Amino acid sequence: MIAADRLRVAVLLSGSGTNLQAIIDANEGCKLGIDIVGVISDRPEALGLQRALDASIPAIPIDFKASANRSDYDKWLDQELDKLAPDLVVLAGYMRILPATTVNRFRGRMLNIHPSLLPAYPGLNTYARALEAGEQWHGTTVHFVTPELDAGPAILQYRVSIRDEETEPQLRTRVQQGEYNIYPKAIAWFAASRIELRDNIVLLDDKPIDGPIVIDEE
Ligand code: GRF
Repeated sequence: MIAADRLRVAVLLSGSGTNLQAIIDANEGCKLGIDIVGVISDRPEALGLQRALDASIPAIPIDFKASANRSDYDKWLDQELDKLAPDLVVLAGYMRILPATTVNRFRGRMLNIHPSLLPAYPGLNTYARALEAGEQWHGTTVHFVTPELDAGPAILQYRVSIRDEETEPQLRTRVQQGEYNIYPKAIAWFAASRIELRDNIVLLDDKPIDGPIVIDEE
């Protein structure tokens, strides 16, 4: 049952959906104060869609490959978002760049999680790049989405210290454990009106934050 007083959340994803699963699990008993009203994927075969169905959430494939061109696909996505009428759009491993018109329509109401300590390493292959560069730290960031890729104001970060000889899969596993913690937390803050984007600055409990709140791996 979808309740009028709960935040309507639409999730966009392209892949396995482990972050979606973490959000679904954390919202058990509506503990996050949200209803996930639909999960949209550009890839019909995405495992994340099956996770949605298993949780009785509408799964909406919009096959990028079946669209005649990018503009048709973008219109299709906008239509599906309109139907869901979300209060918040959550990008959870959605691997396409959204058009600025869509992003601006949801300005201050769209979140993403990106596997790096932004502003370091926007874009792809962040684990390999951080290891290659010999970084001491890596992590993941929840941020508001703005039209520039991975550049929106950051809310929460989870940070891990890179170990000697650490491999990419090992680092990814540790960082993703943190994602399953900080993404539901940020969503709960949004649902409780604790975070807000105002003039491109993040307010937490009505006070501007200088940068993301950083949670270190224990
Ligand atoms: C996440 O690790 C996130 O950092 C990135 O895409 C990945 C999606 O993984 N944006 P999953 O589909 O949630 O398992």
